[in-house]
Amino acid sequence: MKCAIITGASRGIGRAIAQELAKDGWNLSLVARDESKLASTAKELSSEGIEVIYFAGDVSDFNFAKKVVDETYERFSEITGLVNNAGITVDKFLLRMTEEDWDRVISVNLKSVFNFSKFASRYMLKQKKGVIINISSVVGIVGNAGQSAYSASKAGIIAFTKSLSKELGSRNIRVNAVAPGFIETDMTKQLPESVVKEYLSKIPLGRLGRVEDVAKVVRFLMSDDASYITGQVIVVDGGML
Ligand code: NAI
Repeated sequence: MKCAIITGASRGIGRAIAQELAKDGWNLSLVARDESKLASTAKELSSEGIEVIYFAGDVSDFNFAKKVVDETYERFSEITGLVNNAGITVDKFLLRMTEEDWDRVISVNLKSVFNFSKFASRYMLKQKKGVIINISSVVGIVGNAGQSAYSASKAGIIAFTKSLSKELGSRNIRVNAVAPGFIETDMTKQLPESVVKEYLSKIPLGRLGRVEDVAKVVRFLMSDDASYITGQVIVVDGGML
């Protein structure tokens, strides 16, 4: 059965991706930290006529990733898609950034992508079919003051995506990245109004992004309509870059 694992699916962009993929009949395996939020998202999506399972845990944990992928395969007999979306920000200038801050951001944002891609691609290689989408960010392309660790993790995701697309292409596995600009979610909610205004002034389309703006691009990239697209980074930023 066609199924996709989505990390960070309890809220924000990941939850919107789950809602979009449900419309295309994807069965889903949802991953995030918060079990109760996952349960309510899973319940809501099950009413779309698809099957949904979920796992609460830390995506940076190698063994947790293996468990999620193996148990998803046991349930659906296929790992068709993987969306590496979970991510965190720790916004600090370098002088204030601790070793723990750096390690945490790189582990949650970048190592997690390695973890899940490694285990999922094992099944995809056997199936000779699969699609992986990694959620990067525009700051992984242009950088941002106060976000050196976050930007490095997101740039790492882009290089990982391009490399993996070359490794797996001959086995009919596509790997792409999506780089959102400023999207209204819990992650961006805590930013001061002055910062938001500053961003807005740089966005030609004149508005912040919505989670659906990103999720619909992911839905397309996951579909067969994108069957000749791999190794790409699709920027969804209202023209900001
Ligand atoms: P959010 O903070 O609203 O949601 C993050 C999700 O990731 C939650 O479901 C959370 O449980 C999960 N998560 C975080 N750390 C985890 C961990 N260690 N283990 C398991 N799950 C974990 O974030 P949002 O805004 O929806 O962002 C989603 C992705 O999009 C992130 O990778 C973020 O970096 C990226 N992004 C967001 C932008 C924005 O403006 N909101 C812009 C560019 C990229």
